[in-house]
Amino acid sequence: MVEAKIHIDKVSYAYGENWVLNDVTLDIAPNSVTVFFGPAGGGKTTLLRLINRLNDLVEGTQMKGRILVDGQDIYNSEIHIPTLRRRVGMVFALPLPLPGTVRENVLYGLKLAGVKDRSRLDEILEQSLTQSALWDEVKDRLDHLAVALSGGQQQRLCIARSLALEPDILLLDEPTSGLDPISTRKVEDSLFTLKEHYTVIIVPHSIQQAARIADKAAFFLMGNLVEYAAGTELFTRPRKKKTEEYVTGRFG
Ligand SMILES: Nc1ncnc2c1ncn2[C@@H]1O[C@H](COP(=O)(O)OP(=O)(O)O)[C@@H](O)[C@H]1O
Ligand SMILES: [Mg+2]
Repeated sequence: MVEAKIHIDKVSYAYGENWVLNDVTLDIAPNSVTVFFGPAGGGKTTLLRLINRLNDLVEGTQMKGRILVDGQDIYNSEIHIPTLRRRVGMVFALPLPLPGTVRENVLYGLKLAGVKDRSRLDEILEQSLTQSALWDEVKDRLDHLAVALSGGQQQRLCIARSLALEPDILLLDEPTSGLDPISTRKVEDSLFTLKEHYTVIIVPHSIQQAARIADKAAFFLMGNLVEYAAGTELFTRPRKKKTEEYVTGRFG
């Protein structure tokens, strides 16, 4: 077994007194696509947000357990949070391009970080857009406004913007929920390239999508990890009755 990139160890989490994750333990392998799926309210987004400490600013929360990235406890007081967030990129459901050009969108974070070397910036621009499967479509309009791109292109642009910071983990929370089927397929296709370079965790927008993309799949129901297995197993031969009912469309 390859060493886990992310080790989620007995994590429970509450907003106020409302426990929304209950004793969740799972290991996430590097260079693979891991899917968190299940009905709304199951705690999937919360768990993603815990992996890059995006929930730190939410008040009145309680957490038990540990999350290790490369063997290091990310809730340890010695962790430098901006560095963690660079290593763990996150893309949300609705693509939110910035007002500027395609180029400015991708390089935004690097410019903020003070990177000025033009050839370095050009290199990262092309690499990020290639990995997010957008380069061929935008290489002749890098200095056009990003808002002129289609929804699917905008979402791949947001993925490229995360990649430009050279993370090693990429978290995608229902990245295709607002997209048409063709754009959705392009984003899904980009995952095959992405996992060569990154550890990818994605909350899919449907069970069908989960089955198409999952190397490993974790089924969450009301804060409980019901079943975690290879995608080929979980969608064809689920072991738990609840998983079977959900993947065959009997509830959800
Ligand atoms: N900021 C928040 N404050 C209070 N409750 C929240 C907050 N975010 C999520 N919740 C609650 O936590 C539970 C899990 O939500 P979420 O993690 O978004 O699940 P999922 O992504 O699986 O739909 C839900 O009951 C939701 O209402
Ligand atoms: Mg969610």
